[in-house]
Amino acid sequence: MRVVIADHPLITHKLTVLRDKRTPPPTFRLLVEELMTLLAYEATREVKVDPIEIETPVTTTTGVRISHPTPLIVPIIRAGLGMLEGMVKLIPTAEVGFLGMKRNEETLVPETYAERLPDHLEQRQCFVLDPMLATGGSLAAAINFLFDRGAEEVIAICILGTPEGINAVRETVGDRNVTLVLGALDDGLNEQAYIVPGLGDAGDRLYGTAD
Ligand code: PRP
Ligand code: URA
Repeated sequence: MRVVIADHPLITHKLTVLRDKRTPPPTFRLLVEELMTLLAYEATREVKVDPIEIETPVTTTTGVRISHPTPLIVPIIRAGLGMLEGMVKLIPTAEVGFLGMKRNEETLVPETYAERLPDHLEQRQCFVLDPMLATGGSLAAAINFLFDRGAEEVIAICILGTPEGINAVRETVGDRNVTLVLGALDDGLNEQAYIVPGLGDAGDRLYGTAD
């Protein structure tokens, strides 16, 4: 598994505001979308394209267009939904599938409560969106789901991650074609398995308390 930690002052600046507990949900949502767009540059470096001949007003030339089958974007509901708009803005022709997952806060085991994905993902590049990689249980389960459907490659984009989460995902995916793009690598987890320093509960900060 390839791990890329995006290192850019604009990302760090926006992350600092996102982490601040005084940042209200409207600003938090805007920042998550903006961060997604910045991380997408890194995450789509290897997006599959085909050559295409076009005519400019002056001459003919060769460019590229996104290959078929188009990439599949998979936000993990709930918190991953906050990243979706920032990603589809960049690849408007991509398709979107959904996975709903909720980490059981006692056992830390993720429960999948919703799934709306194509049955067959052969030859597809899949982009998984989830702002938080904590223990890694949710992301590992999501990646397994996609490979079980035949995905060729998975690129996971998380705003924050931990060393524990990276190790857990790495162990699960083995030698399959996975890239993990992070906005920042945090120190680790606290006793409740929250990311430290982190930003708190991403879903709650985006959308309010669900319980
Ligand atoms: C959060 C987050 C990840 C998961 C990370 O979702 O969005 O999906 O926790 O934790 P893990 O790496 O330990 O599995 P949560 O389960 O809180 O659901 P939500 O998005 O509905 O808030
Ligand atoms: N899920 C979150 O939303 N935040 C964390 O810090 C860990 C899991």
